[in-house]
Amino acid sequence: MKENRFKDYYNKLISNMPYPDQFVVMDKQHFYATEVFDSQVNKSFRALNLCSNDLFCFTENTRVKTAAMEAIDRLGASNSGAHALNGRSIYHQELERDIAQLKGMPYSHLFLNAWMAVAGFVNSYCHFGPPLPGFDLSKPVHIFADTLSHACQMSAANNATKPLGRKAADSPNVHFHLYKHLSAKDLKKRIERYCSVDDRILVLTDSVFSMDADIAPLPEIAAVLSNYNNATLFLDEAHATGMLGTTGKGLLEHYNMQPSDFQSLGIDLIIMTTFSKFAGSAGAAISSFNKEVIDILNFTPTSIGTISLSPPLCAATSESIKLLLGDNELPKRLRRNTQLIRDQLAIEGFEVLGSTPVIPIILPNDIHPQEFARKLLHEHGVWVSAVWYVSKPKIRIVANSELTVKQIDEFIKAMVSVRESFCMPIQKTCIK
Ligand SMILES: Cc1ncc(COP(=O)(O)O)c(C=O)c1O
Repeated sequence: MKENRFKDYYNKLISNMPYPDQFVVMDKQHFYATEVFDSQVNKSFRALNLCSNDLFCFTENTRVKTAAMEAIDRLGASNSGAHALNGRSIYHQELERDIAQLKGMPYSHLFLNAWMAVAGFVNSYCHFGPPLPGFDLSKPVHIFADTLSHACQMSAANNATKPLGRKAADSPNVHFHLYKHLSAKDLKKRIERYCSVDDRILVLTDSVFSMDADIAPLPEIAAVLSNYNNATLFLDEAHATGMLGTTGKGLLEHYNMQPSDFQSLGIDLIIMTTFSKFAGSAGAAISSFNKEVIDILNFTPTSIGTISLSPPLCAATSESIKLLLGDNELPKRLRRNTQLIRDQLAIEGFEVLGSTPVIPIILPNDIHPQEFARKLLHEHGVWVSAVWYVSKPKIRIVANSELTVKQIDEFIKAMVSVRESFCMPIQKTCIK
């Protein structure tokens, strides 16, 4: 009886959630020639891959691949230990220098991914006290996150009342609040409502929001925080790096701001860069102007308690940064392709959110994104992400710098054709 209940629950869960093993990448000659096996129909399809975050196709770049292979040759595929216990490798040091160039922040600490980076930072901010203004542990902490901030920030903030690791203590001094999406005005209202003069304030936001593709209002947030003595601003640049700014450096470049502007305003700026989107790699870095803030990250459990970033991932990221910084045409081509796809979709009457290379497309209510995406793959050889479980149902694609006009045309034609197959007879009223 109990077993049946579990089976029912399990089946319901599986049928409602994406099942990663449904689609298995078998081979990849090029971005547009990815062989995907669909286990539901037991068949492989050769497809144009538009669900990858590989903005500049660096996973296929010879220099990036060679750098990773040379690192394996020299130090092996793994460091087999944590930073604090096994030291750093030359690849960590080189990557930290490259990130300083990319983000204009002198100090960085590397983590395995964004979840570990933000958990490590928020936890050390709340529970470790470097000798800096704004880090006085006797003062209450108020964490404010945008309502649509990525789950890694939400999770870090939710867990922040407890120190990570062995201690079972709880801190009544840590409070977590949400503010309205993109609203510096609402942030200000909530800070005024909840915080006393010397309280510590930590604001968490995506720079580019991963599901809605819109951009954080940085100048307005900075203006609000400049009124407080103990304010720290944490920018999650997972999607912003490569996507925003003339040379792809991220949100600050988009707004023509410098990291030093935040120092002048008395705001501690923390930038999280991740390597799974703009770089042909994986991993994350937390960057700051303060060496002390970065040094304490060595002792946060998501650093000291786990393996450090492997040599090939560090080397691939370093090479990706060099490629990006050495070629302004890359972000330019990415912007051109983004605009072309967004314009074409709009002409065809699709509802498209945001303004960045992340392109969320809202479908008419009665079309399930999973069914839509399946038809695109099976009948047109276009592989997109179907989203219905973490946010408003949609098709989500990510533009890249290497798409050709012909491929974009084929994608648009496929979108129109699949929509028409759902909305017979073909009529524009079907378009929301
Ligand atoms: C805003 C944001 N932050 C963090 C992450 C996680 O990044 P990673 O997988 O590179 O660790 C994502 C992933 O999509 C994201 O969109």
